[in-house]
Amino acid sequence: LSDLDSVVEAVLTSPRYARVCEELVVHVASIELQKRPSFKEAVKATKSKLHQVAGSYLDIRMEYGDWLEELQRAGASGSAEAWEAACRDILRHQSSTRERLPIVERFYREVLEPVGAVHSVLDLGCGLNPLAARWMPLAEGAEYRAYDVYADMVDFVGAFLRLAGLRGGAVCDDVSRLTDVPPAQVVFMLKCVPVLDQLDRSAVPRILELVDGAHVLISFPLQSLGGKKKGMVRTYEARMAQLASGKPWMVRRFEYATELAFLVSTSMGR
Ligand SMILES: C[S@@+](CC[C@H](N)C(=O)[O-])C[C@H]1O[C@@H](n2cnc3c(N)ncnc32)[C@H](O)[C@@H]1O
Repeated sequence: LSDLDSVVEAVLTSPRYARVCEELVVHVASIELQKRPSFKEAVKATKSKLHQVAGSYLDIRMEYGDWLEELQRAGASGSAEAWEAACRDILRHQSSTRERLPIVERFYREVLEPVGAVHSVLDLGCGLNPLAARWMPLAEGAEYRAYDVYADMVDFVGAFLRLAGLRGGAVCDDVSRLTDVPPAQVVFMLKCVPVLDQLDRSAVPRILELVDGAHVLISFPLQSLGGKKKGMVRTYEARMAQLASGKPWMVRRFEYATELAFLVSTSMGR
C-alpha cells in the first residue's frame, strides 16, 4: 500500500468517516500528507479536516431509516400538514438547515422570486436541504439533483426525492473536483462556499465556470451572537465580489439573521 492508500484506509475504517465518499477522503488525505509525511499525523489531520467540512454539521445520530418511515406515513396520510411537519422535523438534524428553518418559507419565496417557477435545481453540498423543497417555488414535474459526500445521506435524499415526486436524484461525490456540472435552471451553493474554500480556493471559481444555467444561489452563514456578524458580512461580501469580478452577472443580495444570500443571474438563458 502507498502512504496515501494506508491513510485513506485508516480514515474509512473509522465509524464516523466510513460513509464519506472515497473521492473526498483521497482529496483531503493527499493534501494533508504533503504537509506532514507521518502516517499517524496525516490520519489525524485528514479526520479533522473532514470534520470541519462535513461532520461538524451533522447530529451524532442520523436516523435515516426512521425518517424515511415518518415521510412514508406522512405521504400515505395525504395530509400536507403532516408532510410539512415531517420535513421540518428532519431538517432539524443538520445545523445548516436547522438555522434556516425559522425563515425557510420567506427565504425561498424571496430569493427565488426573480426566477419565477423553477423547473430544475442542482443542489451542491446539499446536506438535508432538499427536504425544504416544499417551500421552494418548484414547477410541476420539476427536476432536483443533489450532491453531498455522505453515501447514507445521499441514499436518504434520493429516497426523499422519489417520495416527493421530484425527478432527478442524489449523487455522492466531492463537488470540488467536478469536471462537469449537470445543466440546471438554478444551482444552489448554500453555505458551501466557505466549506469548499477550506479544501481548495480555486474550486468554487472553477465550478462557477462550469455552471450551465441561468441562476446560481450562493449563501454564507452568519452568526448573530456577539459582535461577529458585521465582520462576517464584510468577509463574505468581499468573497462574493471576488467571485463575480469581471463577470457579466447580475447579483441580488438578501440578508437574514443567520444567512447572507446572493442570487447570481448569468447571461445564460434556461
Ligand atoms: C454548511 S453545510 C450546508 C448544507 C446545505 N447546503 C444547507 O445550506 O443547508 C455544508 C455541506 O457541504 C457538504 N460538503 C462538504 N464538502 C463537500 C464536497 N467536497 N463535496 C460535496 N459536498 C460537500 C457537507 O457534507 C455539508 O452537507
